[in-house]
Amino acid sequence: MSKVRSDAKASAAAPRLECRDVTVRFGGVVALNSVSLSIPPAAIVGLVGPNGAGKSTLFSVLSGLRRPDQGRVMFEGADITRMPAASRARLGLARTFQHPEMFAGLTTREHLQLAHRVATSRSRIWTDVVTGRGFRRADSGEAERVDALLDALHLTGIADRPVAGLPLGMTRLVEIARALAANPRVLLFDEPSSGLDAAETEQVLRVLERAVERRGVSLLLVEHDVAMVLHLCRYVYVLDFGMTIGEGTPDQIRGNPEVRAAYLGDDPAPAAASQAGTPRGGRGGLGGTVSPQKRGGLGGSSPPDSTATQEAAS
Ligand SMILES: Nc1ncnc2c1ncn2[C@@H]1O[C@H](COP(=O)(O)OP(=O)(O)OP(=O)(O)O)[C@@H](O)[C@H]1O
Ligand SMILES: [Mg+2]
Repeated sequence: MSKVRSDAKASAAAPRLECRDVTVRFGGVVALNSVSLSIPPAAIVGLVGPNGAGKSTLFSVLSGLRRPDQGRVMFEGADITRMPAASRARLGLARTFQHPEMFAGLTTREHLQLAHRVATSRSRIWTDVVTGRGFRRADSGEAERVDALLDALHLTGIADRPVAGLPLGMTRLVEIARALAANPRVLLFDEPSSGLDAAETEQVLRVLERAVERRGVSLLLVEHDVAMVLHLCRYVYVLDFGMTIGEGTPDQIRGNPEVRAAYLGDDPAPAAASQAGTPRGGRGGLGGTVSPQKRGGLGGSSPPDSTATQEAAS
């Protein structure tokens, strides 16, 4: 770890997080085929693609849950390809889960305090949690940070309620607040809008933009809602069949014929399909069961994702 720190110092201009030529195979399926991606400091980068494109696989490679068959992952210039997820978290790499994982008995405020303490005074965590005697009092810096996050995500009203029993949308807001409370350098977000209504999504986006502007956090958004990604991100990568079919600014992505074909279906983009060696059917491609609308259009509006709506209602 000290090596990673000193390497990081030596390469201050390096991207916060990047991967180079990453390949992942599941038996005969090439889930990722030589994919490279770079997340600069204080930037929001988007990762989109149709169902089965390889987004979650790449997310797992970046966060350390899956080791690639080929390729490298770098954090501020240092090779972390073989570093486990927990060690990456200690470097300042935080992630959210598509299905939030919380401690049912802890309150919203306690989740944020815990995350903050993991980042600032790790040795106290286990005595706080394991002794069952409750949390020690927050110091003023922690209280200020936690209160600000509760306020920004409109969670103050439920701050002292256990998270068990909260609706999914609310739980996701708590999860996002918790990720930010750890003061991460890089945040990987797996579909932050999933399970949120339009107003909640708007709140989350504002908070994320502020984290980037004020704290210099780097964000990677993996999203089905392409319109949202094009609105928010400085740079966007588009995967299909495990390959990068487009990357660039939102305008470049909107004008990219291969991306339009993958999303809008006016041209079936046979090159990408044959290169990956996998038939389109069965992966929710345009010929399959998932409509372009559900996969998020390239236009200005962002129709609600039907899966998210169902989750929110449950
Ligand atoms: N654990 C696994 N075992 C076998 N195949 C897998 C596994 N995980 C993913 N795959 C396959 O790898 C390809 C990429 O899947 P991945 O989940 O990364 O796509 P995705 O872009 O996240 O899709 P979605 O939008 O549906 O979440 C798919 O063909 C998928 O079936
Ligand atoms: Mg996925």
